[in-house]
Amino acid sequence: MPRIGRLDLPDRTPDLKTASLALKAPAPEDAESLLAIYNEADVLRFLNRTAPLAAATLSALLEQWPAVVASGNRQSFVVHLATSDEVIGMVELDNFDPAAATAEVTIFIGRAYRRNGYGLDALNAVLDWGISELHLTRIDGAVMPDNVASMALLRSAGMVDLGDRTGHTVSGEPLSIRVFSFLPQA
Ligand SMILES: CC(C)(COP(=O)(O)OP(=O)(O)OC[C@H]1O[C@@H](n2cnc3c(N)ncnc32)[C@H](O)[C@@H]1OP(=O)(O)O)[C@@H](O)C(=O)NCCC(=O)NCCS
Repeated sequence: MPRIGRLDLPDRTPDLKTASLALKAPAPEDAESLLAIYNEADVLRFLNRTAPLAAATLSALLEQWPAVVASGNRQSFVVHLATSDEVIGMVELDNFDPAAATAEVTIFIGRAYRRNGYGLDALNAVLDWGISELHLTRIDGAVMPDNVASMALLRSAGMVDLGDRTGHTVSGEPLSIRVFSFLPQA
């Protein structure tokens, strides 16, 4: 596994398994299911996206995914149900800081699959992997202050609420965000 600063960042995202989920690197065959979930209104809004993702854009991105991972600043997992292999969402680690050994986590689960514990299960698996395998010392999550579901999810995963900060929208407008941190030694 290539070592970058204090981090061991794999050049190929591994598969992770939980009792009910299979987390796998994004693949071209995930495009249709992933697009539908990504373009749900609240997923777009809470991921700070201003416009729906186009099918062609997502397909091109998935084709190039191995290069995205090899560039060293993103590890993404498509969340599948273990029993049916159905795509239900995504969890990503990005914004790696190899000197500080930190990263950020983002998660979304399709509306039809929520409140079944899948989000917490997937998030826990990725937090554990980031700490134990990549040697991250802190994993942050940035949440819009009205995102009740996400704030509750991050608290359930043991992330600490660090309060509001000023971030920015895609177009550069100021945006209030709530920052949570997963600190394994806390
Ligand atoms: C946030 C999100 C990922 C949660 O996924 P999920 O699979 O429904 O989460 P879980 O079922 O594992 O919920 C775990 C816990 O989080 C809390 N939670 C989840 N959704 C909640 C809601 N709508 N309201 C209040 N608490 C909620 C609960 O404590 C829940 O445990 P419980 O169901 O036993 O009460 C999902 O709502 C989502 O994708 N939202 C849109 C995208 C988004 O906001 N992503 C986060 C961007 S930072």
